[in-house]
Amino acid sequence: MRWPAASKPPSVNSVGATSGRTSASALEPRGESLYPSPETSSSTTRPATRPPTRIDELTPEERAVYATLKPERLPEHVAIIMDGNGRWAGRRSLKRFLGHQQGAKTVQFVTETAARIGLPWLTLYAFSLENSLRRPRAEVSFLMRLLKTYLDDNVERMMKNNIRMRSIGRTHDLSHDVQEHLRAVEEATSRNTGTTLTLALNYGARSELVDAFRRLATEMKHKNLDPEHITEEDIHRHLYTADMPDPDLLIRTSGELRVSNFLLWQIAYTEIFVTERFWPDFRGIHLLEAIADFQRRERRYGGIGEACGEVEEDPEQLKTAVS
Ligand code: FPP
Repeated sequence: MRWPAASKPPSVNSVGATSGRTSASALEPRGESLYPSPETSSSTTRPATRPPTRIDELTPEERAVYATLKPERLPEHVAIIMDGNGRWAGRRSLKRFLGHQQGAKTVQFVTETAARIGLPWLTLYAFSLENSLRRPRAEVSFLMRLLKTYLDDNVERMMKNNIRMRSIGRTHDLSHDVQEHLRAVEEATSRNTGTTLTLALNYGARSELVDAFRRLATEMKHKNLDPEHITEEDIHRHLYTADMPDPDLLIRTSGELRVSNFLLWQIAYTEIFVTERFWPDFRGIHLLEAIADFQRRERRYGGIGEACGEVEEDPEQLKTAVS
């Protein structure tokens, strides 16, 4: 197996605990953090600016949708629950594994469109903890082989597209072979400065929270700290996604109205877009359409919207007015 030049020491779960930055954080009341944030490492520091765009590489149809977008309201982070591979295959009287194979091709199409529009963060739910527990062994091992093939076949394209790939989840429980492949691609792409593609593998949001609480509890024990002082920021710092902004937009394919244990903490204020389209049929243009829909939403973060009427300065006046 030959990879492009390595540039940083490998790590299975390369998402370290660094200073957090969440979309809602600026609006959420947060107390003083118990602990100072650890120094941000060079491997996780991202420039404040968005990666450069390569709009000329979009298809004419994609360019037409992109032209309708407001550049100042582009999401920073899009997360996707890729669903419907099995049904896509079933509709064509094909075996399920062919749906997964087509789904893996879609991963690369969509990631490259994300790179062309300079999306800083793209997170894909590729394999859940539940998938590994509840699917037939043959399907799980097929998915793992497919992941390795995907990594082998696409590392050069990731380099060409300046994509940095990482993974989150209990990846240490995957086979050594799969971990090796992940490590190699994460290492090879670690210095890329464009879109960060995060694959959620052997991932479950509840287990992420359990892992975060365990780390926080250990830290508190060592520092002899009072649990009363725990803040949201302290929990955030111990998530797998500690150095990422929360998703602005969560897309789910194949029409299911569920979040399926994906990024439960991080999607508190995320806009959700569900499409009936099965994942193998999803393309860059559909990502752009979802972003266009997202831009029509009014994000309130628990506040009140512009179309909600005037705010009464004095609630007593309101009482008189309605009595
Ligand atoms: C759901 O399809 C999808 C998954 C099991 C996870 C996504 C997997 C891929 C896109 C394949 C490869 C990914 C990479 C990164 C190489 P489903 O089987 O649940 O579909 P169904 O609900 O129609 O049965």
